Parts: sequence; C-alpha cells; structure tokens
Amino acid sequence: VSPARAARSRTAPWEIPEEDFHTLVAPSERTKFLLRYAVLAPSGHNTQPWRFRVEEGRVAIFADRSRRLPIADPQDRELVISIGAAILNLRVAAAHFGHACEVEACDEPGPDGLLATARLRETARPDPELQPLFAAVPLRRTNRGRFLARPLDAEHRERLLAIAPRSGAAGFRFASGSETLRELARLVAVADRVQFADPAYRAELARWIRPRGSRRGDGIPGDAAGFPAPAASVAPWLVGSFDLGGALGRSDARHVRDAAAIAVFYAADRVRGWLETGELLERFLLTATLVGVQVAFLNQAVQVGRTREQLRETLRLADWPQIVVRIGYGRTPKLASPRRPLGSVLSEPEVWT
Ligand SMILES: Cc1cc2nc3c(=O)[nH]c(=O)nc-3n(C[C@H](O)[C@H](O)[C@H](O)COP(=O)(O)O)c2cc1C
Repeated sequence: VSPARAARSRTAPWEIPEEDFHTLVAPSERTKFLLRYAVLAPSGHNTQPWRFRVEEGRVAIFADRSRRLPIADPQDRELVISIGAAILNLRVAAAHFGHACEVEACDEPGPDGLLATARLRETARPDPELQPLFAAVPLRRTNRGRFLARPLDAEHRERLLAIAPRSGAAGFRFASGSETLRELARLVAVADRVQFADPAYRAELARWIRPRGSRRGDGIPGDAAGFPAPAASVAPWLVGSFDLGGALGRSDARHVRDAAAIAVFYAADRVRGWLETGELLERFLLTATLVGVQVAFLNQAVQVGRTREQLRETLRLADWPQIVVRIGYGRTPKLASPRRPLGSVLSEPEVWT
C-alpha cells in the first residue's frame, strides 16, 4: 500500500461524501451508509466494541465481546455505554437523511451479545432535535489537553443543560461548589493511583495505546493519550512498565481545577441505563462540539469500586455515576483517533433455511 493511500485510508472514516447516500437504492445499502456515522462514536480505549447485522428494514446491534476490557470494565458497563453512543450517531444520521429510527433495547444482552435493534423508516418528519447535531458527528474529538482556566459561558451552559432529559433511565448534572470539586479531584487522583498500582490494569491499557499511524484502526494513539511527541511512540512501553499513577493523579486533579465545568452522567446499573447513558453522553458531546467546547473523560473514579461509592455520596446521586467528563476551552486536537473500516464491524445477515 502506498503511503498516500495508507494516509487516505486513515482519514477516510471521517470523510463521508454525503451525496453518495442518494445514489444508493437498496435499503440495506442505505442502512450501511448510515452506520458509517455510527462508528465515529467514542468508545472506552477506542475499542469500538460493536458489531452490526443489517437485515430487512432493521439493524441488529451487538456487543463484540472480543473487545472487552476485563480489568478496567469488568461488568461491560463502558462497553455498553459506548454502543449507546454509536446508536445516537445512527439516530442523528438517520434524521439527517430523512429517516425515523426506533430503537428497542434488550433487558439483558443475548447469548450472541445482542443489545438492541434499530428500525429505520423514511419519514417526512425526522427528529428535529437530532438533525442539527449531524454536522458535529465527524468533528467530535476527545481532547485530553489542558483547558484554559475560564468559566463556562452562560450560553454554552444553557445549550448543554437543554439536552438533559426530563424522564428516562439516564441523566447528567454539573458538579458545583468548591468543596465538591475538591473532593472530586481527590477521588480522581486516588483512583489513578489504585489503577496504576495494578500491573494488570497497566498491561491492559498498554495493549490499547498505539503508535500514531498504526494500521490496526483502533486504540489510542500515544499523542492523543497525552504523551508529548518524543515519548508518544514508546507510550505503550511506558504505560506498561511504570507506575505513573502518582503523576497522572496530580495532573488529573489539576484538570478538575482548570475545567470550565465537570458533568457527571448517572443511571441505574442495567443494560438500558447504560445504553441511555451512552446516547445522552453522545448528545452532550455533539452539542459541545457544535458550540466549540472541548471535552475529555475523567472516569477513573467511576471505574474503581470504592471511589465510585464515595463519588455517589459526594454528589448525592440517587443513581450510580456512570461517566465523568471535564469540559472547557482549549485547542482542538489536530488528528482524530483511528476507526476500523465499516466492513470489519458488519456481520453477515442470518441465512434462514
Ligand atoms: C464509555 C467511554 C469511556 C471512556 N473513558 C475514557 C477515560 O477514562 N479516559 C480517557 O482519556 N478517555 C476515555 N474515553 C474516550 C475514548 O478513549 C475515545 O473516545 C477514543 O479513544 C476515541 O477517540 P475520539 O473520542 O477522539 O474519537 C472514553 C470513551 C467512552 C465512550
């Protein structure tokens, strides 16, 4: 493969020629086209833990258990949340191209990993709340850099709060109050230390950090993970070999202090709650992208059982915290994290005999 072609294939997932949609006639080809937007969703460690089976008028959505993170995410909680984010992208793309998208979630994952089924149908009235988010789908990035110590603009706060659902299985709120934020920073730093003290955690993370330009199409490029240029190419080795928990904890505590706001997503620990968290999270991330607000994750305090309980108490949440993000103002990352081509996440339709 020529270097130019390799470079193109790495940016190709984000360059979707919209007009191609209208050249497709078969409903299954149109559905596959919409799934190109679904796979741009964020996922824990960029595992992209989804599979899709396109059937007559619907898409079956599966967890790909070969992409689990048994140490960081033993319950598959973040795996299901990631799939919720992909479902929201599918809904947004469907709305943009004039389709209604009805999603039926499973109570429990099927033996084959089935989590949900989406039905698509052409409509004259696609969801007006989702349509405007379409432009943000290829532009959204996780930004692990430092943000300016600047409060959140009132207008941006309003735009983000406007998506908070009034009912449903998942919600979010901004953490506020200097004491709460101090405690949150402490819990994040404690969780960093707990995680990095465990060699199994470090080994798992190291397996998903890749040199920039890797052909694997998944994982986090060293530079995107926050390693400065000279260290980025040896980032997997650094992460796997050294306990960076103390330094990371200090830097993450500073990130909490510098954030314009911290949003905490919560839901009950059930498949539906996790899927809805993923959908709400992605709605939040796309809205932030539209208004020019950067977002990074601070999930460690949710990933460690003890700090998760303390976080719940500190924030006085009725449900369990699921995702913590810091938002603020900073430079947009220049490069995207890779995606696998759509073909590698499509299952063959079932053959009925
Ligand atoms: C459920 C979930 C959990 C995540 N947890 C973290 C995290 O703890 N730390 C982090 O830096 N990024 C986290 N991320 C961000 C992913 O690493 C990121 O989405 C992925 O690498 C792809 O990059 P992109 O968001 O720029 O497309 C998480 C994303 C999701 C959806």
